[in-house]
Amino acid sequence: MAILPIIEIPDARLRKISEPVETFDAELQQLIDDMFETMYDAPGIGLAAIQVGVARRVLVIDLQEEGEGVKNPRVFINPEFSEPSEEKNVYTEGCLSIPDQFADVERPATIRAKWLDRDGKPHDEVLDGLLATCLQHEVDHLEGIVFTDHLSRMKRDMVLKKLEKLRRQQRAA
Ligand code: NI
Repeated sequence: MAILPIIEIPDARLRKISEPVETFDAELQQLIDDMFETMYDAPGIGLAAIQVGVARRVLVIDLQEEGEGVKNPRVFINPEFSEPSEEKNVYTEGCLSIPDQFADVERPATIRAKWLDRDGKPHDEVLDGLLATCLQHEVDHLEGIVFTDHLSRMKRDMVLKKLEKLRRQQRAA
């Protein structure tokens, strides 16, 4: 396994549309393992393959519901949604590609999701809570969308300015 470099905005690769996975080979298993290691190291609760520069429809999520250090790894390949609820949830979201910035994002509270796991086995479930939000955030990455795209222009500019300031401080340190 390997920790892969995470790409950050404004890297143009984050705007790419990711391609569906067709073969469940050893290379895919390696990518998934590397993505988990990268996500746990960051640390984060979700990672899309494009965030490590691979434009394929692969997501890893671990909400660590049982507490820090207790792993509950979930893999979503070629995920799709339907039946978004009218009811919305607001979570304060962050993203490993937009380091140390957080903002409230409103999304459908419940969605029906279909996906394949790492063995290519199909799943079809209604999801809610943090998992529904996290999956929607990660699926956005597959379409070239980041969470700041959901913010008002004023809020987005604020987040981007704060990120620039942080980067300047890090360069100066
Ligand atoms: Ni993200």
